[in-house]
Amino acid sequence: MAWWNPRRIGEGAGTARLAWLEQFARRDGVTWLSEARAFSHDEGEYDAQYASEADRPEVGQGAVALMRALDADLGGPALEVACGTGLLSVGLAAAGAYPGLIVTDASPRFLELTRRKLARNGLEDRARYAVLRFEDLPRLPAETLSLVVLRSALHHVLDVERFVADTARLLRPGGVLAFQEPCAEGNVLMGALAHFVPMVMQAAGHAPTARQREQLRLFEDTIRFYARRDVDKAAAEDKHLFRPHELVEVGRGCGLEVRFLPNVVFEDCVGGLPPARRPGSFFGFFHDYLRYCMAFDAELVTLFSEHFARHCALVEELSRTGDGPAMHGVFACRKSAGRPGR
Ligand SMILES: C[S@@+](CC[C@H](N)C(=O)[O-])C[C@H]1O[C@@H](n2cnc3c(N)ncnc32)[C@H](O)[C@@H]1O
Repeated sequence: MAWWNPRRIGEGAGTARLAWLEQFARRDGVTWLSEARAFSHDEGEYDAQYASEADRPEVGQGAVALMRALDADLGGPALEVACGTGLLSVGLAAAGAYPGLIVTDASPRFLELTRRKLARNGLEDRARYAVLRFEDLPRLPAETLSLVVLRSALHHVLDVERFVADTARLLRPGGVLAFQEPCAEGNVLMGALAHFVPMVMQAAGHAPTARQREQLRLFEDTIRFYARRDVDKAAAEDKHLFRPHELVEVGRGCGLEVRFLPNVVFEDCVGGLPPARRPGSFFGFFHDYLRYCMAFDAELVTLFSEHFARHCALVEELSRTGDGPAMHGVFACRKSAGRPGR
């Protein structure tokens, strides 16, 4: 069956199933389920930093294709949490697989950017838009949604266990909480290896500048902060790296069966379930993380590429056969048919 199913979009069943939204204040087409929370960086600069200006419908379409491949429930509306600039939203709206789609973020500015992206694709009317904080999921009605989906956002949630439990309550039987997030295994390895970059640069005749040393130290500190669980993360924007076995347990405690697809991104699922051992490039991921996420200076990124790749040879070889560490992955947490969430 094709993912494109216009009969299920917009008016009709979708509108009726989202009638509960009407009890909340609505202004300029945005429903206010929460108080606004601005992102800690300029929302208008987000796409430029992550080179994500382009519309990439395959991201949301991949998430929907994954749900189909897992034979998930599609009978209720879908909720996207923390949409940012809409990288996932465009394909979710284009797919039109659910009878209703609510696209949300805590930041009204992000919501506006996403809405604009959907509008330029002729998809603005395919979604409802709402300001929603993670913490306010209990304001939504229980057992109404078929999909709660996030991309690169669960690591911003302070209390992950609470969030998973709150989401499980919202899902219909057979519904899925799906998210794509960074994993501790591969990221901690990057942090450990980064420690040796200054020595390798020095040995190659390119002594790092004080600023470059500072950038590398910041990277190590960043990974340490994300990986540790004994520090207060309330004030930080990005907070966590995930260990799949822990999320399996968290999900189980809420009546969710968790499936983990290591090193898979949503768009890999456009054609259905990707291979279990997805080949990738550890060094490519490492490079892109330093360039885009850490915004390292261009010279440092170039020197890193030229001189450090060979020191990552073993991990790179394993990654290319799908046997490397999990850098990130997609988690699909399905609510069992018999048991309501907490
Ligand atoms: C790294 S961005 C990811 C955006 C988008 N999903 C993507 O893949 O590009 C993290 C998102 O989490 C949102 N966020 C942070 N704290 C939040 C909260 N307490 N409630 C809801 N969203 C929040 C931010 O506004 C931002 O849109």
